[in-house]
Amino acid sequence: MPMESSSPSNFLHFMTQFPLEVKQDVSLKTLNTFGLPVKAAQYVRFSQIEQIPLLIEMVSFDQQPFLILGGGSNLLFLDDYPGLVIKNDLKGISIERQNQSHVYLKAMAGENWEKFVEYCVEHGWGGLENLTLIPGNVGTGPMQNIGAYGVELKDTFHSLEALDIASGQIKTFYGEDCRFGYRESYFKKEGKGKFIILSVVFKLTRKDHDLKTSYGPVQKELQELKTSQVGIKDVMTAINRIRRSKLPDPQVLGNAGSFFKNPVLPQQQFQQLAERYPDIPGYQTQSTMVKTSAAWLIDQLGWKGYRQGDAGVHKKQALVLVNYGNAKGSEIMDLAYNIQKSVFENYGINLEPEVNIVGKTNYLD
Ligand code: FAD
Ligand code: EPU
Repeated sequence: MPMESSSPSNFLHFMTQFPLEVKQDVSLKTLNTFGLPVKAAQYVRFSQIEQIPLLIEMVSFDQQPFLILGGGSNLLFLDDYPGLVIKNDLKGISIERQNQSHVYLKAMAGENWEKFVEYCVEHGWGGLENLTLIPGNVGTGPMQNIGAYGVELKDTFHSLEALDIASGQIKTFYGEDCRFGYRESYFKKEGKGKFIILSVVFKLTRKDHDLKTSYGPVQKELQELKTSQVGIKDVMTAINRIRRSKLPDPQVLGNAGSFFKNPVLPQQQFQQLAERYPDIPGYQTQSTMVKTSAAWLIDQLGWKGYRQGDAGVHKKQALVLVNYGNAKGSEIMDLAYNIQKSVFENYGINLEPEVNIVGKTNYLD
């Protein structure tokens, strides 16, 4: 749906019919899961597609930095944000089309991911059950191709619509256009800051669903559920239990999930490490590459449970950095840097942050 945004009469129409309220000096404390008490110099929330022309005018006219905000669960603010924070609150779920085997389900970007997964499972639509309990919004899922327990968003992805900020056009992206990788996509790299994802379409199964339960902890949990025939709801329940047992609830303890990505190493480098550390976990990703566990590397160096002021390493999962209450973004960053340095010095591996860092830093990445 290409849109024109800049004819003055159109602009006036949108301004009066679909206004946007820009607020100044807005606290983002409850809008980021680290719970950092930062402020946005300007803040605007949009919930209707019709508000987009005005949004574009605002962004291009002001020439100030802007940041799209979803659920704030993968962001680390080092300081107050000096520009415009744009909260994407577009809502709605609809069936695009369906046949006997599949349903093509469209969700607007501002829908909550956890509720969306539950909604799909309740309707018996398979494919997203392993991605249960990941905080954030549907529209942010493609940003880093969210993944958990052997499934990634790309496995059920059909397409998305995104607003090209420079041209004001709404473009459709299919799987290949998004260049999904492990915690990566076009939108997190070259396309960063150029597009606002507006909606996503998933291709979900209606029957004969192929369950992904090969992860050891998932199998164990399913056995404990003692269900005669395992279905998508059981998988969701099992994974919910595992996640609740080791990941901190951001409502209780500020965090943004895994702070770093798991390193993917050339086979030879991994083999050399495995000779020195026979217990090091390794999962072959391609014929020449092995993914190892950042949590294991950090844990082995004694960081688990470490606390530096109010910034800490979670007691149950060494890859998750936490805010005990009053940590500043820069303090979490210092801790991350110290961990990164210690992993590099001991294993020669440079951990790459998964979390999106907002603000100035000399941090290696
Ligand atoms: P935000 O933090 O709001 O934004 C993240 C980035 O995307 C920012 O750069 C932002 O500018 C940009 N952005 C947001 N919305 C849009 C949009 N509509 N268009 C363009 N850019 C946009 N991730 C996993 O992959 N797997 C997990 O298992 C997992 N577990 C987690 C567990 C916990 C307890 C927590 C706190 C986080 C976890 N995460 C996990 C990370 C996080 O939940 C996901 O990355 C999630 O998709 C982030 O969504 P969000 O809406 O909160 O994004
Ligand atoms: N381990 C330790 N110490 C710890 C925790 C884990 O040694 O404190 C070791 C264990 O050997 C364990 C292995 O690390 O078997 C893997 O741990 P876990 O299953 O908890 O997974 P992870 O690799 O730490 C990844 C994702 C998570 C995702 C889970 C489940 C990344 C960066 N993280 O964590 O995603 O939920 O697998 O699939 O890939 C996120 O991205 O924010 C996130 C939480």
